[in-house]
Amino acid sequence: MFRLIYAPGDGIGPEIGDIALNILEYQLKKYGVQYEITEILFGGCAVDAYGVPLRSVDTSVVKNSDAVLLGAVGGPAWDGVDPSVRPEKGLLTLRKECDAYANFRPARVYACLKNASPLKDRITDKGIDIMIVRELSSGIYFGERAEGENEAYDTEYYSRAQIERIIRKGFECAQTRGKKLCLVDKANVLATSRLWRRIMAELSAGYPDVEASAMYVDNAAMQLASAPYKFDTVVTSNLFGDILSDEAAVITGSIGLLPSASIGKVDIYEPIHGSAPDIAGTGKADPVGMILSAAMLLRYRLGLPEAAAEIERAVENALEYGYRTPDIAPAGNYTDKIIICTTAQMGEAISDALRQ
Ligand code: IPM
Ligand code: MN
Repeated sequence: MFRLIYAPGDGIGPEIGDIALNILEYQLKKYGVQYEITEILFGGCAVDAYGVPLRSVDTSVVKNSDAVLLGAVGGPAWDGVDPSVRPEKGLLTLRKECDAYANFRPARVYACLKNASPLKDRITDKGIDIMIVRELSSGIYFGERAEGENEAYDTEYYSRAQIERIIRKGFECAQTRGKKLCLVDKANVLATSRLWRRIMAELSAGYPDVEASAMYVDNAAMQLASAPYKFDTVVTSNLFGDILSDEAAVITGSIGLLPSASIGKVDIYEPIHGSAPDIAGTGKADPVGMILSAAMLLRYRLGLPEAAAEIERAVENALEYGYRTPDIAPAGNYTDKIIICTTAQMGEAISDALRQ
């Protein structure tokens, strides 16, 4: 029995989440997966209802499940709440409790959306297909910190075990892709980065088919914008992965398109964008990132690559047909056959393509 937790969250989360859940259930049925779904309030909506972003009873429910399908959490409505019960804090607790340590964030440019990328054609023409493997359950996000009136600190801590398991995931991922793994760090300054480099060098011997390299994060930020085609698989720490994955997302055209998978004891599948409260309820949200997150669930958790690929092809079909939510709509005049559409229409176009 596959036990799924559905946490639509805040802002646009429920709009895009319901569409993705429908598509996921369609595939689960088609592939004969026995499943049960439990919906929970998580994030700002849970703060409003219970005073905390994730109740401990819900934490237990999650820990007894296989995977969480998550919309998005947070928004300015909860900016004023105590930091210990901020929606973002709930997200970090969820990641930790699930031991979701390996975060996979793919970024690729669809041929038909090349014009949505802010990069020049001569760069996108060389093809962009990057997988960022971000360490998600340790590092400076979880290190000791203190916050005073006139001083504050955060700590970047990594143990060998924490680094080894994520670098292994990076190598294994690279083996299924372009067979290049680049460690992004700040080894010219940080002790933790130098430990990552040593462990990367040790482990690389076990993956002779993968070309291993390392790059400083400042340089990587530059290269992602100037020569993204040079990257295949990137492995990096929690904070650097957070920053670089937003950068990688925007060069694909829209952060609304990108999914993520966070693998651990219990997996978490969520789009990489936020809850976009400014467009919630307007029908402008792009459901693609969330739908592709459901595809990642089928591939990573259930070992159903064909079921995942069917969703991915359906998304491509809808985009190639011309469907565009406002985030990927061309600016100004355009001659191509383009159908500017709502969240629901994009969802329907993808569902229809899947059913064909
Ligand atoms: C992300 C988000 C989170 C992070 C925030 C909301 C805590 O930006 O998933 O990338 O920094 O990890
Ligand atoms: Mn982020």
